Amino acid sequence: MTAHLSAATIRSLTQEIVTAHSALEGPLLPILHAVQEAFGYVPQDALPVIADGLNLSRAEVHGVMSFYHDFRPEPAGRHVLKVCRAEACQSMGTDALAEKLKQRLGIDWHGTTKDGDVTLEPVYCLGLCAQSPAAMLDGELFARLDDEGIDEMLGGIGK
Ligand code: FES
Repeated sequence: MTAHLSAATIRSLTQEIVTAHSALEGPLLPILHAVQEAFGYVPQDALPVIADGLNLSRAEVHGVMSFYHDFRPEPAGRHVLKVCRAEACQSMGTDALAEKLKQRLGIDWHGTTKDGDVTLEPVYCLGLCAQSPAAMLDGELFARLDDEGIDEMLGGIGK
């Protein structure tokens, strides 16, 4: 969608976002959210503009981005699959589930399949702790995911 925007356009739109948020206390997270909202991800070209605007180093901005798992460094695929990695799901085998999904899709966390179809992202609790392990595909929740559940979930998008 917006992946074709030039670096200059990304920088100038980011500058507008930074300016609009600069009066906030703790503006970095709202700015990152607004940038992701605008572009669908947080482009590399946006980072120096954010860093300069807030008097931070690029590494600091990057560090915050990677600490919170909400921010995408690259455009997402057509479908976004979020797999819960929080405690209740961990205890019900979400790691093994994630491994199966990664192998089947041929991607790692935050990766997108080569055909641009599916992006895999971690999420920390989907509110389905009693029915873990849980995942969400394009906003639809899937609970107690086992092999059959994975087939059903991915079958719905032809994977
Ligand atoms: S811990 Fe996974 S849904 Fe709550």
